[in-house]
Amino acid sequence: MYKIGIVTMSDKGSQGLREDTSGAAIRELVSGIGTVEQYRIVPDDPEVIKETLMEFADVHRLDLILTTGGTGLSPRDHTPEATLAVIHRQVPGIAETIRALSLQKTPKAMLSRAVSGTRGRTLIINLPGSVKGVRECLEVVLPVLPHGLEILSGRGGECGHN
Ligand code: MTE
Repeated sequence: MYKIGIVTMSDKGSQGLREDTSGAAIRELVSGIGTVEQYRIVPDDPEVIKETLMEFADVHRLDLILTTGGTGLSPRDHTPEATLAVIHRQVPGIAETIRALSLQKTPKAMLSRAVSGTRGRTLIINLPGSVKGVRECLEVVLPVLPHGLEILSGRGGECGHN
């Protein structure tokens, strides 16, 4: 079982003015691969987002951080830039595949600028803000995550085997 963190980007949510249904959806969907050890709702503030991602990766040493929200075109959407500022290596295939398969569900998928990458032994994946977006995007990567996390965490993983 892997150690998982959820970061919800929401100005209103961080002030207690909106229920975080997307964070709850992520928690439910990842229950089969790990335990959610850290969960935070933060404002759409790039510095706060960066600090939170670094804390989750470097202090709590989580295997996986899933973010929700802040990937779109609003002037307050800073999640991709904050993520790119703290990751060491991009994993473009994750974001590319999420976007490609999401386009089969909705053309609005092209409006998400979500990115994915690693910081140390932590994998960070951006997801859109809506519950629908979270479900559709996580469903794409979930089957591959155990293998990716196994390799990233150094717990083994033979790529030649299914
Ligand atoms: N991807 C999927 N699979 N399903 C969705 O409903 N919503 C899109 C897009 N990606 C969506 C999706 C919409 S409407 C927007 S505006 C962008 O994600 C950005 O969302 P965010 O700003 O909440 O992160």
